[in-house]
Amino acid sequence: MTHHSSVAPLRIGLAGIGTVGAGVIRLLKANADLVAARAGRRLEIVAVSARDRSRDRGVDLSGYAWEDDMTALAARGDIDAVVELVGGSDGPALALARGAIAGGKALVTANKAMVAHHGHSLAVAAENAGTALKFEAAVAGGIPIVKGLREGAAANAIERIYGILNGTANYILSAMEQTGADFGATLQEAQALGYAEADPTFDIEGVDAAHKLSILSAIAFGTQIDFAAVDCAGISAVRAADIAQADALGYVIRLIGMADVDRTADGSAVLLQQVKPCLVPKGHPLAHVTGATNAVVAEGNFSGRLLFQGAGAGDGPTASAVVADLIDIARGEAGSPFSIPAEQLIPMQPAQSDHRTGQAYLRFTVTDRPGVLAEITAAMRDADVSIESLIQQGRAHDGGEVLVAMVTHDGPEGNISKAAELLSGSASLTAPPLIMRLLGE
Ligand code: NDP
Ligand code: HSE
Repeated sequence: MTHHSSVAPLRIGLAGIGTVGAGVIRLLKANADLVAARAGRRLEIVAVSARDRSRDRGVDLSGYAWEDDMTALAARGDIDAVVELVGGSDGPALALARGAIAGGKALVTANKAMVAHHGHSLAVAAENAGTALKFEAAVAGGIPIVKGLREGAAANAIERIYGILNGTANYILSAMEQTGADFGATLQEAQALGYAEADPTFDIEGVDAAHKLSILSAIAFGTQIDFAAVDCAGISAVRAADIAQADALGYVIRLIGMADVDRTADGSAVLLQQVKPCLVPKGHPLAHVTGATNAVVAEGNFSGRLLFQGAGAGDGPTASAVVADLIDIARGEAGSPFSIPAEQLIPMQPAQSDHRTGQAYLRFTVTDRPGVLAEITAAMRDADVSIESLIQQGRAHDGGEVLVAMVTHDGPEGNISKAAELLSGSASLTAPPLIMRLLGE
């Protein structure tokens, strides 16, 4: 008999039995004893909910009560903690979250969309109700980055946080890089492996990474979460030719989320949050992150650079993060969801998206005819952008499309946006230019 057998179990209601939900059921079964030993009591699922009761999920549900309406889990008297693994920023997931917290139940969620949109009001509600709100699995799957920032790095002022926050996009980019694989086929693989969101455009267009970045920013900088302020672009415009060009220059392409705080001339703090495809030097730790792996770099003023890396998606890793939150709740160690009490989180002005300086890669698809290059370089001159190198690629046939790629010298990002504006509407360009900044070492 173990010492925790006399302590009441933590009774769980589980909403959503898909990739992550089924993973949680498997983990709690496989690791039941060690989880109980670490939590000081057993973790027991009491009731579950999903849409289709008849669906075979590869897990045995016979020991659990079934709720057709998942929001009913919030009202059950035999549940201490609700786990929301359904998804969607609003709708039933949010109704369940609000209902659970209002009823004084702890809430664990992997739903970054919901936390990015409603995390602040949910945190206020949880703190007022004296209950826990936890979302380790919402950021970077199995990587304990929320805990890492809230606890491990809690003594530091975080100066900058950045990294690879979407497994699906990274899976696609690294496959294109390694095998020249087709974008669509690779996305289908990521979907089959359970990595992609219900709407995979969230993965490809940077929205999912932006959800996660806004959550990290709030914790790292003590600000109210501000997803709408994330300057966001995805990877759909990245071509095999860009990957080849980056390779020749000594870089790989990664979708990077980055947040830092700056001061304006009058001394007020402004927060810059960006998700953009970037050129990462091959020697940088993030260049070696392939497949659905995520990696987050947090720069603390005393700790220096901290690198967190691991599986960013998938059933096992994400279940590991969900159950870690449940163990904290079972131990009675909840704390403020965003590290400091929600009422003390201050809203911070967003910085202008072109506030940074640095080098950039610009790629134009142009009609191959005389004067096109002169038009592009004139726009660079007029916007005060200095060009370090320039490559023109391929010539399918007279008047056909060619790629012109260039790398700029260090300079304000605003000037590059201005050059792109000067060229917008030009008959020489067959598509808007692709602009990617070069990440420093
Ligand atoms: P799935 O699509 O695999 O599973 C979703 C589950 O929710 C299904 O069981 C589905 O029921 C159920 N569901 C959907 N709508 C309703 C509803 N209206 N009422 C009741 N149940 C409903 O999603 P994932 O497991 O992949 O993702 C779940 C959450 O975890 C999302 O928020 C996602 O962003 C997040 N996440 C996912 C990761 C991953 O790697 N997959 C990683 C990190 C976070 P049914 O099975 O009957 O259709
Ligand atoms: N769709 C997400 C990804 C799941 O690909 O990273 C993990 O949050």
